[in-house]
Amino acid sequence: MDFFQYKNDKLMAEQVFVGDIVKQYGTPAYIYSRATLERHWHAFDNALSNHPHLICYAVKSNSNIAILNLMAKLGSGFDIVSQGELERVLVAGGDAKKIVFSGVAKSEQEIQRALEVGIRCFNVESLAELYRINDIGTKLNKKAPISLRVNPDVDAKTHPYISTGLKENKFGISVSQALEVYKIAKNLPYIEIIGMDCHIGSQLTELKPFLDATDRLIILMEQLKKNGINLHHLDLGGGLGVTYHDENAPHPTEYAKALLTKLKNYKNLEIILEPGRAITANAGILVTKVEYLKTNENRHFAIVDTGMNDMIRPALYQAYMNIIEVDRTLEREEKIYDVVGPICETSDFLGKQRKLAIAQGDFIAQRSAGAYGASMASTYNSRPRAVEIIVDNDRTYLIKHRETFADLWKLEEMIK
Ligand code: LLP
Repeated sequence: MDFFQYKNDKLMAEQVFVGDIVKQYGTPAYIYSRATLERHWHAFDNALSNHPHLICYAVKSNSNIAILNLMAKLGSGFDIVSQGELERVLVAGGDAKKIVFSGVAKSEQEIQRALEVGIRCFNVESLAELYRINDIGTKLNKKAPISLRVNPDVDAKTHPYISTGLKENKFGISVSQALEVYKIAKNLPYIEIIGMDCHIGSQLTELKPFLDATDRLIILMEQLKKNGINLHHLDLGGGLGVTYHDENAPHPTEYAKALLTKLKNYKNLEIILEPGRAITANAGILVTKVEYLKTNENRHFAIVDTGMNDMIRPALYQAYMNIIEVDRTLEREEKIYDVVGPICETSDFLGKQRKLAIAQGDFIAQRSAGAYGASMASTYNSRPRAVEIIVDNDRTYLIKHRETFADLWKLEEMIK
């Protein structure tokens, strides 16, 4: 459930008409709903409330500091994948002790900074990374808390670009090697083993792959126990899908119930989840203006003022995202449109063959745009990125200013 609903045929973000927001701030604009973000976070937190747990919001899905700050106020933890994300979380008031650090390419500088601020856990993705963390821990005379990211080799049944738990993917340490690496970790003086981690992919709409992965991790945990390695937590990553179109993604409660059944003999084992999309996707929309309508042969095009630079998901993953009118009180003829952007690439579209009742100058909204929208945006074709606004009941806050043209080249230099 989200708080973008029509009231008398006008699209509202909580209590505010979306048309009024974009009149004030211009388009393209990402608009988020605070109540929706909080509701989604609580859905995860409540689902695990009878078991020790920590929800670590996946920063990459939307890293605006206002959103990170809201998460921090809820008591959330954070899953990060770079020092940039670490610094954002700290600036936004996040608690370092609730940060888990994933990612295959952690640099020396990143590891050092994370150790210095005292993060909760490094999710280690290779033996080489383990040695590097131990070396940096030695230098700083500080023990590093770690889990190994285990690649359980299960098919997440999602788009191949967002599937991460197959043995041919670059992520994690294969389940067959993990025991050996844990044994090595146990003997490294500046490593403290605290958990086990996996993340098998994103936009999963079935529970089975999660549960199959959990089964494999349980077997591994039992082997560790026999070797005198007892874990404090199990981190199952993110990945729970959302409804973009007609997907029937499981609710966090269903997911948690199934997990807790599997883990019934592990009452003290803390469960960490790293949801991103399930919290942010349907808490945001991308609003754009129809610049032109045109018809080539039999195909109608709605040409809008945003495209793959602000929202790359359709181009990159053939993602389907709903597109709706902002003001349905306007009397317009309904047609089937390809909604395309200004970028000079054929892959630049928001959606194809969509029924819309629109005219030039109208505003339309792409739904489910809160995740992997603004955080993946670029300035390709030298287009300043969209503004970001958050609505809290009847108030709106600008949380990212529109870039100026001078911002586009502010780090560039001409040679003398
Ligand atoms: N934890 C780790 C280690 C991850 O790699 C990811 C996402 C998450 C958590 C959060 O997954 P979520 O709950 O959001 O599914 N740009 C793509 C999605 C890439 C996901 C990458 N990893 C998209 O727009 O569909």
